[in-house]
Amino acid sequence: MTEPATRSESPSSAERRSDSEDPPYLYPDYVATRLRAPTQPLVFLPHTLSELTGPAFGEDAVGELDHDLTRQHDGEPIGQRIVVAGRLLDADGRPIRSQLVEIWQANAAGRYVHEVDRHPAPLDPNFTGAGRCLTDDDGRYRFVTIKPGSYPWQNHDNAWRPAHIHFSVFGRAFTDRLVTQMYFPDDPLFDHDPIFQSVRDPEARLRMVSSFDLELTEPNWAHGYVFDIVVGGAKATPLED
Ligand SMILES: [Fe+2]
Repeated sequence: MTEPATRSESPSSAERRSDSEDPPYLYPDYVATRLRAPTQPLVFLPHTLSELTGPAFGEDAVGELDHDLTRQHDGEPIGQRIVVAGRLLDADGRPIRSQLVEIWQANAAGRYVHEVDRHPAPLDPNFTGAGRCLTDDDGRYRFVTIKPGSYPWQNHDNAWRPAHIHFSVFGRAFTDRLVTQMYFPDDPLFDHDPIFQSVRDPEARLRMVSSFDLELTEPNWAHGYVFDIVVGGAKATPLED
């Protein structure tokens, strides 16, 4: 649900990112970017002291069950139960510790709990679709959830998003927030999705795709998917702005 449009087209903004593996601000096949890509060169704003020293999420702010999206209601949600886990790493492969990782996703039928979601698929009274946790000393995070369904959107005729989970990672300040999407292996919709394709480097695209992992899979309980997030450097996970 990060696809709405706000601004007008700018070839210069697309060029600004031509050397980056992150998706360009302007990618015409992703129709909303025609309106929201900036029309003026971006201005660098250094962090202020209050941003760097202001309050951020601490361990007290994250609840015991916030990482488990299958236990946030009285009953269990419908769908394939999955464990999604990985590490948050910097450009040199070092763990990024004590960072807030947030996820949000559609339910198993491809429906978000959001007022603008008009997809005629059922809501699940036992699934909100949002979770969060903090990375540990090895930069590890872990969520329990259900596999999201694909959902249609209005970008073009017969447009469907590949199943995905949105990820947000906070740095040392709220202004350091990074957002990306995690996909599932071998999704047949990859070739037809302009958001996935807006990351032009095929290797970088694969860094947004999780891996099925039998070690993480729990017998008689849940499939396991591994998704490491690398912030910066040559192996960086592509990020949205
Ligand atoms: Fe989405």
